[in-house]
Amino acid sequence: MQITHAIAVTADTCNACHAPEVRQATQAPQLAGQDPGYLQKQLLHFQAGERGSAAADVYGQQMAAIAKTLSAAEAEQLAMHFSQQPTTATKTAEPTAAQLDQGRRLYIGSCGACHGNQAQGNLQLKAPMLAALESSYLQRQLTQFRDGGRGTSATDKPGRQMAMMSRQLTDSEIQAVAAYIGAGLP
Ligand code: HEC
Ligand code: HEC
Repeated sequence: MQITHAIAVTADTCNACHAPEVRQATQAPQLAGQDPGYLQKQLLHFQAGERGSAAADVYGQQMAAIAKTLSAAEAEQLAMHFSQQPTTATKTAEPTAAQLDQGRRLYIGSCGACHGNQAQGNLQLKAPMLAALESSYLQRQLTQFRDGGRGTSATDKPGRQMAMMSRQLTDSEIQAVAAYIGAGLP
């Protein structure tokens, strides 16, 4: 794909928050290596208020404001651009032995069937890659799904599936599974 000058400039805008060295401060997730269709869908959902509009979702609100400045073509091209970038290795959690054990059991029992046994994602099921995401981000998304900040739209079947899954999880289970994935699925 041809990356035009205008798009390169816009990707720099995104990297102000999404670049590896600033992600911990901004809480913006890694986009590199994620499925382009998934990224584009999320941008459209931020624009439509289906994500990032809940009162408690401060980080989602930040991203929604930025998504609303993008044209449809920019959203599509930026999704493609980031999906093609190499992921940077992330180990974003130092779980306790008990959390690792609980997180591993939960992941294998309740997540791997959709997200893949290495959390690499599953295109057919529209389940995104989780392996390169930060544990604090994972934890926040699971909580948003569970508490109705994400995955509520009638037309959003993948989101609704995920929301249904998240409602089975307690706070400490969310913490454990996010820590297990963030530690690289050891
Ligand atoms: C001011 C900081 C900031 C900037 C600039 C920014 N983002 Fe974000 N972005 C975030 C945060 C924070 C989140 C996490 C929101 C949440 O917790 O739901 C996010 C989430 C996302 C997601 C969802 C990813 C997923 O795994 O679901 C996409 C896609 C995204 N951003 C794309 C972009 C693009 C494209 C740009 C440039 C046009 C951009 N962002 C610019 C802060 C930013
Ligand atoms: C029935 C299939 C299914 C199962 C089981 C499932 N997920 Fe998901 N998950 C999805 C789909 C589909 C999406 C994409 C939702 C969307 O498009 O907004 C998703 C999205 C997510 C996201 C958001 C990622 C991002 O980049 O923002 C996280 C985090 C997540 N799942 C974690 C988990 C965990 C942890 C488990 C196990 C406790 C799990 N999922 C079980 C299908 C599933």
